Amino acid sequence: MEKECVIVLDFGGQYNQLIARRVRECHVYCEVHPNTLSLEEIKKRNPKGIIFTGGPNSAYLPESPTISKEIFELGIPILGICYGSQLMAHLLGGTVSTAPTSEYGKTEVTTSRDSVLFQDVSRTTVCWMSHTDYIAEAPEGFTVSATTPVCPVAAMENPDKKLYATQFHPEVMHTAEGMKMLSNFVYKVCRCKGDWQMSSFVEDTIEAMRKKIGSGKVLCALSGGVDSSVAAVLLSKAVGKQLTCVFVDHGLLRKNEGDEVEAVFGPEGPYDLNFIRVNAAQRFYDKLAGVTEPEEKRKIIGEEFIRVFEEEAKKIGAVDYLVQGTIYPDVIESGLGKSAVIKSHHNVGGLPDYVDFREIVEPLRLLFKDEVRAAGRELGIPEYLVSRQPFPGPGLGIRIIGEVTEEKVRIVQDADAIYREEIANAGADKGLGQYFAAITNMRSVGVMGDERTYDYAVALRAVCTSDFMTAEAAQLPWEVLSKVSSRIVNEVKGVNRVLYDCTGKPPATIEFE
Ligand code: XMP
Repeated sequence: MEKECVIVLDFGGQYNQLIARRVRECHVYCEVHPNTLSLEEIKKRNPKGIIFTGGPNSAYLPESPTISKEIFELGIPILGICYGSQLMAHLLGGTVSTAPTSEYGKTEVTTSRDSVLFQDVSRTTVCWMSHTDYIAEAPEGFTVSATTPVCPVAAMENPDKKLYATQFHPEVMHTAEGMKMLSNFVYKVCRCKGDWQMSSFVEDTIEAMRKKIGSGKVLCALSGGVDSSVAAVLLSKAVGKQLTCVFVDHGLLRKNEGDEVEAVFGPEGPYDLNFIRVNAAQRFYDKLAGVTEPEEKRKIIGEEFIRVFEEEAKKIGAVDYLVQGTIYPDVIESGLGKSAVIKSHHNVGGLPDYVDFREIVEPLRLLFKDEVRAAGRELGIPEYLVSRQPFPGPGLGIRIIGEVTEEKVRIVQDADAIYREEIANAGADKGLGQYFAAITNMRSVGVMGDERTYDYAVALRAVCTSDFMTAEAAQLPWEVLSKVSSRIVNEVKGVNRVLYDCTGKPPATIEFE
């Protein structure tokens, strides 16, 4: 049976993968391709629908990205979004020009009752706009299906030709009824059945990896985080013992984390793979001794990681493939994914230059974090691993202000474990993007059992964020904070004070270093 698919053609907008993800949320498989994908290639894929993304250009300028007008004659439903809508208007004889008034942000849009795209959508609905150009006049054969006071064509359509366009972005969260509109497009216009599930992604990826890798050898740097764990399990299901996972325990992991990772991926765990755990804590502590500057610490940890991994890889010998748990946000953060090597640097600090391999495979490259978690659940990975919060590559090294010492590592591990335990006990983790304990470099005077103390202050941090680019300090219940703080000073030797970080990002960052 042929798989239903919607294709997103990328015209350089920032939300292109988000569109694909929203379509997948409608249970329709969706992939993003460059706008240069040929008509032949498009036809070969037999898509049920095509979506043109936004982009930063002006559709009427000759140097702007464009597409052959023949695409509108294929009989395949097309939805143009923002630049995509302007391009459709421009190519089909409408007028696109600089808008007298640009619209940015949440905007009230009036929609037409007659449009199938706006079925069950409120007549006045909040949409996300971000444009300086606009469609001044829709092409012949099109009707205007939405307007704003300053945008005469906020949406247009030619239902006979199955062509639809919106000036606003239905894919972003701020468009209140955007999912309804996309769902109308895929179900009511494209007539999709909606039979795609994360289980299909998992099965298809395992099959694709099996085919690609054949009898080759695969190496994976496993951190125990969600992404590399899901990538490793996918590969183990695909090629079993042809996969070797190297887990470098740099001694800067959370309390018991190394053993937890080993319990799942090691010989006692449920997966059929080769697992190598390298206990390299002392090497890292030695290298970090006396170093206080945050960037220098990060660099040392990154470099030592490469060195340890390289030594293990050399023992294994030449491998054919290196698996990376790169996910879509990594691709964006490291410069729109122009090169696989850049991303591997982002994730593991520059590994591939040193390891003898033929190709990188990145099975999760198209997925967002919550989709990766869903894939992990589909694969039967334990919930505590799948729902794990993000943890930085340099680990506790950047949650220990100043010099890293074994004593400080112990303090931060114990304090953090108490904090996480109490948050879990209180069910206070809802809505938190990340929460952890850090050890400040401050010692201060306290009194315990009539004795003077001069000990460290631990800082607790909890932030609400969905993208980790900006964050607000969470308003944790006082009872939780006071319980955590009293447990930490009572149970963790060397701490006599607990502080709560109330700063957002910006101006602070989420991590302390
Ligand atoms: P900041 O501290 O920049 O953190 O606000 C934003 C998010 O990124 C994580 N982070 C890192 N992740 N390697 C990583 O893999 C790193 O060097 C690193 N530094 C910060 C941080 O935990 C938060 O989720």
